[in-house]
Amino acid sequence: MAPRLFLFGLLLTSCSLAMASDPSPLQDFCVAAPKSRVFVNGEVCKDPNLVRADDFFFSGLHLMGDTSNAVGSNVTVVTVAQLPGLNTFGISMARIDFAPWGMNPPHTTPRATEMLTVLEGRIEVGFVTSNPENRLITKGLQKGDVFVFPEGLVHFQRNVGNSNAVVIAALSSQNPGAITIANAVFGSNPDIDEDILAKAFQVDKNVVPSCSLALASDPSPLQDFCVADPNSAVLVNGVACKDPNLVQANDFLFRGLQVMGDTSNEVGSNVTLVTVAQLPGLNTFGISMARIDFAPEGINPPHTHPRATEILAVIKGWVVTSNTENRLLTKVLEIGDVFVFPQGLIHFQRNVGHAHALAIAALSSQNPGAITIADAVFGSNPDINGDILAKAFQVDKNIIYQSQSKF
Ligand SMILES: *[C@@H]1O[C@H](CO)[C@@H](O)[C@H](O)[C@H]1NC(C)=O
Ligand SMILES: *[C@@H]1O[C@H](CO)[C@@H](O)[C@H](O)[C@H]1NC(C)=O
Repeated sequence: MAPRLFLFGLLLTSCSLAMASDPSPLQDFCVAAPKSRVFVNGEVCKDPNLVRADDFFFSGLHLMGDTSNAVGSNVTVVTVAQLPGLNTFGISMARIDFAPWGMNPPHTTPRATEMLTVLEGRIEVGFVTSNPENRLITKGLQKGDVFVFPEGLVHFQRNVGNSNAVVIAALSSQNPGAITIANAVFGSNPDIDEDILAKAFQVDKNVVPSCSLALASDPSPLQDFCVADPNSAVLVNGVACKDPNLVQANDFLFRGLQVMGDTSNEVGSNVTLVTVAQLPGLNTFGISMARIDFAPEGINPPHTHPRATEILAVIKGWVVTSNTENRLLTKVLEIGDVFVFPQGLIHFQRNVGHAHALAIAALSSQNPGAITIADAVFGSNPDINGDILAKAFQVDKNIIYQSQSKF
């Protein structure tokens, strides 16, 4: 074990936390190297020895997009194109700004499920199920609400207030794509033949360009959704599906992400999770979200998510963050900064400001799991044998016993 990392561990909890996991059957990361002409899963990997914390970092999500356009909305995306470290991780993020009554017009994200939370304003959202039902599921959202749009289904968002609105969206692909229905259907290059559109939309040719947008796609090879049914004893990919005829908009909704978690605990942080346990509609979608509150100097202690990559945006305050491989990559984040933590790698966050800090995280699993290293190593039940830990951490056994007595 590298002495430098060991010292770092001592500073934190008087025992080393610089243990690297072996999370993936393949490799820790594959930071996109856009200049290469060889493509692997989208992009070729940068030489791992040249990888820096900045490769996992994006700055600017605090900036409002310009909404003075025809639809009155603006999407700022953070995909693999903006954040090369996302390559191969199957997750990305976006900020969507809305002018009063602005809308994000009906579109699909062909390769991703989308999950969003409202930071400011009141938003109406909706999606349309696939043929033949083409059922429209809509919901009015307010600050702190979380809603999920199944992969590939046509969906939209609209600001139903007289002030600006903003949401943060998480997407279950590093490159989700977007197909705006009106642009694809009525603005293709070259144009789709008018007769085809007139027949497809069953209208007179003269009204075609301004007509219905309620066209459903057929996105998934399997089904639109599988809302978790907690009462079923049969488990499928985690949880059995609810009868689709009984599915309601509320199955895709979680309320309460505007509420600050209580940070008056030993570590000074609190994670509010929105996984399939809180939002049954996430079942089978491979995505979830969290709100992380930090008291001044509070930390979210070193931990791993065994089943998920995490992408985090700072909404308030200054947070230091890290990926600890056996090499430590740290970065100070401020409002609007985005950072990605590869699946299964040990990471932590610490509030380095004197005020409350807040981050919104998206995770590439409906049930990411968390293993807090200190708890798992020193607080297991029963205890891990002191000899084993003393050898592993190369310290006196008494130090291990002291640590174990604290957890
Ligand atoms: C979104 O906002 C950015 C930044 O203000 C601007 O450069 C871009 O043109 C806007 N996009 C649209 C579609 O209005
Ligand atoms: C986090 O905050 C919630 C809501 O205030 C509280 O119920 C919970 O006990 C807190 N968790 C921790 C670990 O402090």
